[in-house]
Amino acid sequence: MHGPGLSSRGGTDLGRILSIPDGAVAIDGERIVAVGRTADLRRDFAPRAELDAQGGLVIPGLVDAHTHPVFVSTREDEFELRTQGKSYLEIAAAGGGILSSVRGVRAASKEDLLERLLLRLERFVDLGTTTVEAKSGYGLSLEAETKSLEVLAAARTRGIVDLVPTFLGAHDVPEEYRGRGADYVDLLIREALPRVAAARLADYADVFTEGHTFDLDASRRLMECARGLGLGVRMHVDQLSDLGGASLAAQLGAQSADHLEFVSEAGIQALAMAGVIPVLCPLVPLYLRQEREAPARRMIQAGLAPAISTDFNPGSCPLQSLPEVMTWAALRYRMSAAECLTAATLNPACSLARGSEIGTLEADKRADLVIFSCSNLRRLVSEFGSSRARAVVVRGRVVRGAEQVRTRA
Ligand code: NIG
Ligand code: FE
Repeated sequence: MHGPGLSSRGGTDLGRILSIPDGAVAIDGERIVAVGRTADLRRDFAPRAELDAQGGLVIPGLVDAHTHPVFVSTREDEFELRTQGKSYLEIAAAGGGILSSVRGVRAASKEDLLERLLLRLERFVDLGTTTVEAKSGYGLSLEAETKSLEVLAAARTRGIVDLVPTFLGAHDVPEEYRGRGADYVDLLIREALPRVAAARLADYADVFTEGHTFDLDASRRLMECARGLGLGVRMHVDQLSDLGGASLAAQLGAQSADHLEFVSEAGIQALAMAGVIPVLCPLVPLYLRQEREAPARRMIQAGLAPAISTDFNPGSCPLQSLPEVMTWAALRYRMSAAECLTAATLNPACSLARGSEIGTLEADKRADLVIFSCSNLRRLVSEFGSSRARAVVVRGRVVRGAEQVRTRA
């Protein structure tokens, strides 16, 4: 992923990458200072230390622009119910789904939540992900949402990954507000969003716009409120039905419109006109055993600049691996390996307003990069299960594979 990479790449540009055989990246402190041939960089910089990729693949640190990592228990019981034919909505209506994770988060201590989150962040790094957008949304009360966001803030200071917090109080209507969804929306608008913004606990607000959760009108009010408070807007839209969520995201000038399995042609056009980045979650229909998938090729044809994400969460995607997401995006969306790389680096970085900092390997960007053992990108994308990184560099620090660093005399 070469420069200049300040803005997202869509349409025929999505697959525009450059591969440098026998390449090297020169790093000084937290920053990349040059990218080029190994021999040239050795001559120009006389490096004090080298991390040898040994013929492996060096790419920018992967960027996951959609995750829900603040939860207690996994939900493999629901996975099994789905393999037996129950749908996501049936399981949710029976008290499973998001609300089952809410019970766990409300009962958990901050220390317990933090410990679990930190392990998950370390796992992201193992898999080559160095920037993670992370949503709250399994608290659904003032107290439990604040607790979730404070846990994210505490994790952020550890510097394991670059963590971008999103407030998703509008993930579902909690049990105690059942039948009074409008009152819960009022609570979010009057109290929760202003508190979150005032305490600077999130960069973004999000909403699950769907028939059984928040309709278009509620979603608009929530996101307009968030915007007015200075928060960016991300939205779960058109995942289980075509409600027109994509068009709403476009009208609101959202930074991302996520999922989009049921997006209409009008929705695609609206996103393209407004330059909204679609954040696609290709593993989710697989895990939900849902036939309908996001029309990714159609979006690319319309000039959109998609990102691909895990949507890591205990219900609809327990997987944290972006390399696996790339493989599935290639198979299901018919995206090339090069397109998958842009969609897992520069485009998600731009959706998180970090296009000038990360997402490509070029001078002046942050030195976040990952080395895989395989010799080329197509191999990485074509193989499931070979995605553990050989080495990972975050802000110029070798956080995986440090034993491979050799100091030069
Ligand atoms: O992105 N769509 C809404 N939220 C999650 C599902 C979360 C859950 O089931 O716990 C998603 O798929
Ligand atoms: Fe999600």
